Amino acid sequence: MPVIDEPQVRAACEFNQRLNVPQALPRDPAAEAATLPATLDDLKMTADRPLGQATTLPAAVYTSEAFYRWEAEHVLRAGWQCVAHTSQLAEVGDFITLDLLGEPLIVVRDKDQGVRVLSRTCPHRGMDIMPPGFGHGPAEAREGPPGGGHTRLFLCPYHSWTFELDGRLKACPEMHQATGFQRAEWGLREFRAEVWNGFVFVNLDGVAPHAPAEQWAEFGSHLEKWASQDLVVVDARTWECPFNWKVITENFMESYHHVGAHSQSLQPMMPARDTWTEAERAHFIRCHLPYGAKERGAISEAEAAGGARETFPLIPGLEERDRFEWGLTLGFPNWLLAYVPDCLIWYRLQPEGPHRHTLLTTLLVPRAVTQLPDFADRLQRFTAASVGFHLEDMEMCVGVQRGYYSSGYQRGRLSHLEMSIWLFQRYLAARARGTWPTLDRPAAVGQRADS
Ligand code: FES
Ligand SMILES: [Fe+2]
Repeated sequence: MPVIDEPQVRAACEFNQRLNVPQALPRDPAAEAATLPATLDDLKMTADRPLGQATTLPAAVYTSEAFYRWEAEHVLRAGWQCVAHTSQLAEVGDFITLDLLGEPLIVVRDKDQGVRVLSRTCPHRGMDIMPPGFGHGPAEAREGPPGGGHTRLFLCPYHSWTFELDGRLKACPEMHQATGFQRAEWGLREFRAEVWNGFVFVNLDGVAPHAPAEQWAEFGSHLEKWASQDLVVVDARTWECPFNWKVITENFMESYHHVGAHSQSLQPMMPARDTWTEAERAHFIRCHLPYGAKERGAISEAEAAGGARETFPLIPGLEERDRFEWGLTLGFPNWLLAYVPDCLIWYRLQPEGPHRHTLLTTLLVPRAVTQLPDFADRLQRFTAASVGFHLEDMEMCVGVQRGYYSSGYQRGRLSHLEMSIWLFQRYLAARARGTWPTLDRPAAVGQRADS
């Protein structure tokens, strides 16, 4: 088995970034836009087939600018996207900058301890108030989250207007001759945001009909066991991904590929054949990856010797089943979480077009774990393993996107182990019908009786 390393994969990503851009394969935007209705019809038809007849989607779903514009409006801006974890904004004035679907954003802890998502677009002449390096204001970069920093106020570097942490305009020089100008009317625009179980979500179009607590209540009761509001992000890595955001989403949620991509890493621990998916839900997909006999044996052996198989102490209070499996959840549209018996893994996605997105891979553990004398060693061990299997995934995702640009692409058949991909198709199709899964179709049954 050839070993792939991080520089190799990052170089492959850069190389593919160049190959995958539409300039490399000239497209006629008008012709592409004209095919959007047919692509959406195809999506709806494909998703309505039973799992046993399921196929992959048309390549245009992953390559076309027109489809990307459709999903940016109806799937991404319309939903709740996860942008931060509260541990990354521990103190008043802590912030994270990120760009999401063309919106330059600041996620900030304000003076009332609330978390807000503000636009970085200056209400004066439109300047990004925190350009790379944070301009010339009082904001300072902080170690930890990429784009993270700390400040007492925001200063637009162009004409020195300043803003409070809640976005209100604090001061603006030489505006006294502007007739009727009222400072109170010229704050930074604020986006609709909610904190739920320690994660910060933004709904860019502002009209999502269901709040996170409502739409995800059912898996919230599972997530509660990890007390995710008390966890801290201890590792965060940025990856420039030359592939569609749905490619990593599908990859994250199906474990059939343990037999191939992870044959030496995850497959011995969580055999693909034993993985399964719960019944269809309106707002999320949940999968289970039980440990195989070999891993269970290794756990018993380690425990008999007075040790532990996991890298970090077990999350306290987990049920028996949670101790012997990994769980995966996709909260629509793209909140990806893996529940591990000793930690949580969260992926943040920033789609940037049909052929690219920025991905942040993170690891969260209870704060007490970070106080262990050997924490640095444990963290190093865990990240070596998790980066290892992520590199295996990156290699696959890069290759899949190349396939979508090829005239040799075929609409492949899915295995029953890819039920989560089929459910994701059903979610996209439901959005194309203006609804959510299970609301206008009977819910698909789960792969275990108790799901
Ligand atoms: S554009 Fe921001 S102060 Fe002028
Ligand atoms: Fe994987």
